[in-house]
Amino acid sequence: MSKIDLKVNGRSHTLDIEPATPLLYILRNDLGIQGPHFGCGLGQCGACTVIINGAAVRSCVTPASSVKGEITTLEGLASGGKLHPLQQAWIDEQVPQCGFCQNGQIMTAKAMLDKNPHPTDTQIRETMNGTLCRCMSYYRIQTAIKKAAKTIADASPSTKEVVA
Ligand code: FES
Ligand code: FES
Repeated sequence: MSKIDLKVNGRSHTLDIEPATPLLYILRNDLGIQGPHFGCGLGQCGACTVIINGAAVRSCVTPASSVKGEITTLEGLASGGKLHPLQQAWIDEQVPQCGFCQNGQIMTAKAMLDKNPHPTDTQIRETMNGTLCRCMSYYRIQTAIKKAAKTIADASPSTKEVVA
């Protein structure tokens, strides 16, 4: 066992864990953060995705002891009592079917929009490729990402000129 420090959604935690324990298990079982889901456990479906230092990371294959920096989960996206534009677009477009994959879809999209606020359809497809949805909600996912990107652009005076 060894002590680790994790910062999740702005809160610091010190835990005593087996160093190889996947981050997903720590988040769900020790910290009660249920946004990231266990799908394949092999890094192949994306259901467990979280954002670490701005990058979408599959937490089921990431040893918790290897994490340095800020972890953001689905629970950390809303701020000031308002949903993140992606979450709102997901509701508006009624994206989920069973919902199981949707944590991974939103977190992967969030990491993309933070780096590239105006993705093309091709860039969205390339980024989201590999985040699997057994209910085939891919078209609605793409529509919602584009809607969220527009909401973010409309709310940002500096990007309005670029978009116009
Ligand atoms: S549960 Fe992590 S990639 Fe599938
Ligand atoms: S909504 Fe069911 S797996 Fe994606």
